[in-house]
This record gives sequence, structure tokens and C-alpha cells, in this order.
Amino acid sequence: MLNLQCTCRMLLCLSLLAENVLSGKVLVWPADYSHWMNLKLVTEELASMGHNITVLVHSASLSVNTTSVSALHFEPIEVGFTSDNLQSLWEKFLHFWIYEKAQVSFWEMHSTMRSLSRSVSHTHRQICDGAVKSRKLLEKLRLSQYDVLLSDPVLPCGELLAELLRVPFIFTLRFSPGFAFERLCGQILAPPSYVPAATSELQEKMSFLERTENLLLYLIHDLLQLLIWKEWDSYYSSVLGEDGPETLLLSETSLSSGYSCLHCIQIMEVVPNFETERYI
Ligand SMILES: *[C@@H]1O[C@H](CO)[C@@H](O)[C@H](O)[C@H]1NC(C)=O
Ligand SMILES: *[C@@H]1O[C@H](CO)[C@@H](O)[C@H](O)[C@H]1NC(C)=O
Repeated sequence: MLNLQCTCRMLLCLSLLAENVLSGKVLVWPADYSHWMNLKLVTEELASMGHNITVLVHSASLSVNTTSVSALHFEPIEVGFTSDNLQSLWEKFLHFWIYEKAQVSFWEMHSTMRSLSRSVSHTHRQICDGAVKSRKLLEKLRLSQYDVLLSDPVLPCGELLAELLRVPFIFTLRFSPGFAFERLCGQILAPPSYVPAATSELQEKMSFLERTENLLLYLIHDLLQLLIWKEWDSYYSSVLGEDGPETLLLSETSLSSGYSCLHCIQIMEVVPNFETERYI
């Protein structure tokens, strides 16, 4: 009898909450190429479940086709470079990665990658500027009253935008080079002797020398990522001003905020704070 009463109360509570959880307004902060191909499926699935999805798309985007027939809404972000500029940068990146990387020394490879990453970071900065420094856009997004922001952290700034709009956010990540985000922010278990760093091209069975190389790769990726985050750190602080939290880095927010979590399409073993299922 008691159980029946309890169940009835629970059902009543759930039915009262149902309206709030059936659908919501989701703002999406996507990255380009395969990251968008991955996130597009997630957003379309969410739209088919009745959620109202708005994707922020910068004006030089190479991947998001805003004219295609889709259940998604698109909100443009104006940037100061063209899609041709962006394409030539990525082609340079890919050409080095596919054809030149094997010809140069380990250190030369990482220094070239560092300089290419800087150029990519520069475009990311401009995309971020287009969103967080446009009062008109921010006002429009505030008025739309989103319930959550879904952000691919490979393009920084999603969490900064969420902070400015005062909405909770969820990270969704395909992978990051060297699993740096997954390890440093998501605390994923990835011992360098067993888990080959993403983009290292090492296999799951590694010789002693390969394991040593993998360890070195982890350290280099961590160092490069920390340097990139340091720059973003001061950018975030300058946008949020004196009153804002001093830093709003992925590494801190993903661990300390109760509402955020990391949604990963994973290619390796996962630990409990990573979610591999689609769950909204
Ligand atoms: C975008 O979608 C439209 C309509 O489906 C299509 O005609 C066009 O070719 C697409 N553009 C690109 C760049 O894929
Ligand atoms: C979905 O959100 C967009 C952006 O806020 C709004 O323009 C549109 O009317 C909404 N659609 C529905 C069905 O609520």
C-alpha cells in the first residue's frame, strides 16, 4: 500500500515536471569539418525529438550549409576573413600533415604544428570576437532565452558565451589531439603506455620505443594545449572584465560546475564522467 502511494506521488511529480523536460531551446557552438559532421547528427536527433535548435555559424564556415533544408535554425556570426582564407589555411595544415610531416624531424614537426596552430587560433579568436563582442547578437541571444548551450570545445569560446548568456552548457567533443582535453579536463584514464595519443598514428600494440614516444607526445600535447589555454585565459578575463571569474577555462569549468559535463564520441575506453550515449 505504501509502495503504491509512493509510486503515485512519484508519477504525479514526474507529470508536473514533464512539460519542462519534454523540449527545450538549445544553442549550438560548433567547430568545422568532421567535428560538425559529428555534432550535426546529434543536433538533428535533438531537433527530431522536439527541441528547438539554433546553430551559431560564422560567415566563413566551410562545413555548415545554412541553405540546406533542415530542422535547425542558423544564427550568423560576422567574421573578418573569407571562406577562401580559411580553406587555404586548412589546406596548408593538411598538406603538411599528410605529405611533409614524415620528411621532417620530430622537433621540426612540432614547431611547424605550433605555428600552424597559432594561425588556426587566430581565426578562432576572430570567430569568438564576432560572437562575444557583438552587443546586438548577444542581446538577441539573451532575448531568445536558451535552456542550454551545446559546445564543441575544439572551437574555444562556447563556455564564455554560455557565461555571458547565463545559461548552462554541455561540451561535446569528437576528440582532441593527444587526448589533451579528455585527459586534462575530463580526467579520462589514459596511461601513455597503453593508450596511443590521438593523431599519433601509433597502434594499440606498442613496442617499448613507441611507448616512450607516446609518453613524449602526451607531454608535448599537454604543453602546447596549456600554452593555447593561457592565451585564451587572458582573452576570457578581458571579455568578462574585473567582475568576471578570473579564469573560465575548460579545465576548470568541466570539473567544477555541477551542470556541465563532457559528451564524447569515444574511440577508447571511457570512465564514468564521460558519456558516450546521446542523452538529451
Ligand atoms: C547546401 O544545400 C543546398 C540545398 O540542399 C544545396 O543546393 C547546396 O549545393 C549545398 N551547398 C554546399 C556547399 O554543399
Ligand atoms: C525556435 O527558436 C528560434 C530562435 O530563438 C525562434 O526564432 C523560433 O520561433 C523558435 N521556434 C519554435 C517553434 O519555438
